[in-house]
Amino acid sequence: MSNDCYDALIDVVERRRSVRKFEPGKAVSRETLLKIANAGRWAPSGANVQPWDFLVIDDPDMRDRVIEVFLRQAERLKEFAKGFPAVYKRYLNNTVAIVIVLGDPRWALSFPHGTTPESEAEYAANNDNIFYSSLGAAIQNIQLAVTACGLTSAWLSGGGENTTNRELSEVLGYPPFLTACGTVPIGYPVKEIERRFRRPLEQVVHFNSYQADQFRPDELVNFHHEHIRPFTMYRTQENIAEWDDAEEKFGDWLAAYTGRITNPGGELP
Ligand SMILES: Cc1cc2nc3c(=O)[nH]c(=O)nc-3n(C[C@H](O)[C@H](O)[C@H](O)COP(=O)(O)O)c2cc1C
Repeated sequence: MSNDCYDALIDVVERRRSVRKFEPGKAVSRETLLKIANAGRWAPSGANVQPWDFLVIDDPDMRDRVIEVFLRQAERLKEFAKGFPAVYKRYLNNTVAIVIVLGDPRWALSFPHGTTPESEAEYAANNDNIFYSSLGAAIQNIQLAVTACGLTSAWLSGGGENTTNRELSEVLGYPPFLTACGTVPIGYPVKEIERRFRRPLEQVVHFNSYQADQFRPDELVNFHHEHIRPFTMYRTQENIAEWDDAEEKFGDWLAAYTGRITNPGGELP
């Protein structure tokens, strides 16, 4: 069996990057934007309700008004966003388009529901998962299509907060109960960013049963949060063993970032 199809797919999947710096003075055709939106349309969704709309902003004046909303958002939230990339999102000025994926929570009506309080409670807790996973699938498809069309993008969760969403809805004219679950700025990259950190394949895969020595203990989660997070978001190497300062940064945790085992004792909470 030929692997051509897999090779083409994985090439796009691996090259999809979050880019926060775009070349100025570029443009994109509506035809390309529709190809990108079409990929989003083909995403799977719970009960096939397709609880999304794709607001594609390619008009510079409208884009500027959207950017103003994001600047105000950054002003309000900057002190909570320390360590996160490009909080002010000034790079939005150089986008050729911005796609806002709107989620419509009313469609959760068509997800599984119970007929008794007990069965409904059991189902209801999972409805949010179904809703947000569906939107994530659409956003992912859009980002992949952007890459396949020779452009690049980011995936911004900022915009879904109440105040920002309300301001966006006023600028863009959608009812505010729809939420801007994902904003995808699109542009031409200033430079190609080929790779970012990914956990090793043998660490994330568990065949047939959960491997307790691949569990990540609380100490590791906390260590990551306190010391590592920005580096794994920004640095452009996949494999931490290749970082010049790997030993200094990771100390005793280095093996937990570079090999299969993250929990040598195999003890689970
Ligand atoms: C649900 C979700 C929310 C994200 N929110 C933001 C965001 O608000 N701002 C941002 O710059 N990047 C955001 N990102 C991008 C991640 O930071 C990025 O995917 C990650 O650092 C890995 O880098 P890569 O996409 O280049 O592989 C988000 C990604 C996902 C999947």
